[in-house]
Amino acid sequence: MDRILEPEIMDGRETAEAYARADFSDSNQAFVDRVVARFGDRLSSVVDLGCGPADVPVRLARAASGARITAVDGSEEMLSLAREAVRAAHLTEQITLHLGRLPGLALPEHAFDAVLCKDMLHHLPDPQALWSEARRLARPGAAVYVMDLMRPSSPLEAREIVERVSSREHPILKEDFYNSLCAAFTVEEVRAQLRTAGLTLAVEPASDRHMAIAGVLP
Ligand SMILES: C[S@@+](CC[C@H](N)C(=O)[O-])C[C@H]1O[C@@H](n2cnc3c(N)ncnc32)[C@H](O)[C@@H]1O
Repeated sequence: MDRILEPEIMDGRETAEAYARADFSDSNQAFVDRVVARFGDRLSSVVDLGCGPADVPVRLARAASGARITAVDGSEEMLSLAREAVRAAHLTEQITLHLGRLPGLALPEHAFDAVLCKDMLHHLPDPQALWSEARRLARPGAAVYVMDLMRPSSPLEAREIVERVSSREHPILKEDFYNSLCAAFTVEEVRAQLRTAGLTLAVEPASDRHMAIAGVLP
């Protein structure tokens, strides 16, 4: 099936709260574990693009106490939930929240040792917003680690995934997950995006529904 776009910024209060309440602990911790295992020597200055309610930055700050993390989102509602989470975790020294929309964030160029992004790519009408920003923010030798959904072959398959993975979740969250699967890219589409961007990163399936896009920039 072709991509069906979903709203880019998750700025409704109800949507943001349903997302923040959902339990993504397994996939968020797996993301952080992979980042630390693979790029633990490149985590002094990290930017997390599309941080949502900041569960990933909080987990990363706990796993890598030397990491200074700038967590970015275009949604004020998400960032206000992120602010609460960062305060509750006593991590305001390690995590700085930044309201901004890619591309063209008001952050310094080539200032980060690692550029991370989980589950934001599929929100973007133009995926080059992510790849151009990653290139702009990363220092030479920086790590890039992006994880995102893979688009199923049909709406029926997308519905089956939603029921298998999240049958007991809030209806708003299930619909959001279905829409996200339909908006996601395929592995081949992401490989083509990277060729266009001139980025040499590996794209591999990371689970039955996720792909990982990773590497070190020259
Ligand atoms: C599905 S959530 C993922 C949140 C978090 N990374 C996680 O995995 O829990 C996607 C987030 O990306 C944000 N977003 C989407 N497009 C964006 C853009 N162009 N600039 C900044 N944030 C964006 C949305 O507002 C939303 O909070």
